[in-house]
Amino acid sequence: MKGHWTFNRNSTADQVLEGKDLTGKIALVTGANGGIGFETARALAAAGAQVILACRNPELGEQALSRIRLAHPHAKVELALLDLASPASVRACAHGIREREDIPQLDILICNAGSMSMQYLLTEEGIERTVAVCHLGHFLLCRELLDTLLLAPAPRVVVVSSESHKYPFKLDFDNLLVSRKQGAVTAFNAYGQAKLCNALMALELQQRYGAKGLTACAVHPGALVTTGFGNGSWLTQLAFKVASPFTKTPNQGAATSVMCATHDNSEDIAGGYFSHCRPARRSKEAANPAVAKRLWDFSEQHVQQGGAAS
Ligand SMILES: NC(=O)c1ccc[n+]([C@@H]2O[C@H](COP(=O)([O-])OP(=O)(O)OC[C@H]3O[C@@H](n4cnc5c(N)ncnc54)[C@H](OP(=O)(O)O)[C@@H]3O)[C@@H](O)[C@H]2O)c1
Repeated sequence: MKGHWTFNRNSTADQVLEGKDLTGKIALVTGANGGIGFETARALAAAGAQVILACRNPELGEQALSRIRLAHPHAKVELALLDLASPASVRACAHGIREREDIPQLDILICNAGSMSMQYLLTEEGIERTVAVCHLGHFLLCRELLDTLLLAPAPRVVVVSSESHKYPFKLDFDNLLVSRKQGAVTAFNAYGQAKLCNALMALELQQRYGAKGLTACAVHPGALVTTGFGNGSWLTQLAFKVASPFTKTPNQGAATSVMCATHDNSEDIAGGYFSHCRPARRSKEAANPAVAKRLWDFSEQHVQQGGAAS
């Protein structure tokens, strides 16, 4: 991939945005109350963007707003409630934004929220929870906000994936939405499938809407960034502990997302996969445009059915 890449694995989101003025840009970051999402939202707001923190927990969301305002008194930040596991909540969040006269367009959408459910849990609609939160919820959010994005002069969508997208060899359409047995190994499987969906959704967004001016890409924030991620599992907690001296802070974890959201040349970003603030190799499956299109149609069908699994 072409482009000149200034930043690297050690760069922070603040360093990436140093000297940039994002005044006038409106951004929405999902899962912005903690971890990588919080640092992403904070850094964008510090650089002048108006930032909507889309969070499922109102108290944690309000605390995040206060922390940002304390650090950056002029920050334009607000909260929108969003539970990605609930299609009704996703639709309500998008509707609330579309209705706002003071939000004429959305310039940046960062699909950051994620979770890995260690237990086999289904949403109310009967969808396996990790895939529902990481992929289907974000798919629906993007779809509901597309018109608002396309009103921006150069809209960007950044989807936070993971190197875990490489572990499922293929996207398992037959079992994607519901099939998972209880236990750690299969939990990691579901997470890998969900993160593969994230990479493919970014690719298909670019394929479908690139000609309309939208730029989309997927990112890996860094391995075992020290956030709240994986707190539900002793195995991931142990891995985070062991790896902690060698890994990234949340501010470093946010660097690739903000780089992709604000890089001057959209052609360098379009349809790509990024890690450590530069293009990275994704799996063959994640780069397959036919699989990306199939996933889009598959997801579309499910959200049209109201999110119910067939
Ligand atoms: N940390 C890593 O090493 C790492 C590596 C590769 C990829 N990633 C990816 O990076 C992204 C951010 O992860 P993180 O490390 O910052 O994790 P984190 O600290 O656990 O933050 C995850 C965020 O997602 C939110 N979230 C979870 N379920 C949600 C739902 N149903 N609806 C709306 N929001 C929901 C959480 O909200 P609550 O606080 O309410 O739970 C939280 O704000 C994820 O997509 C993850 O897969 C992380």
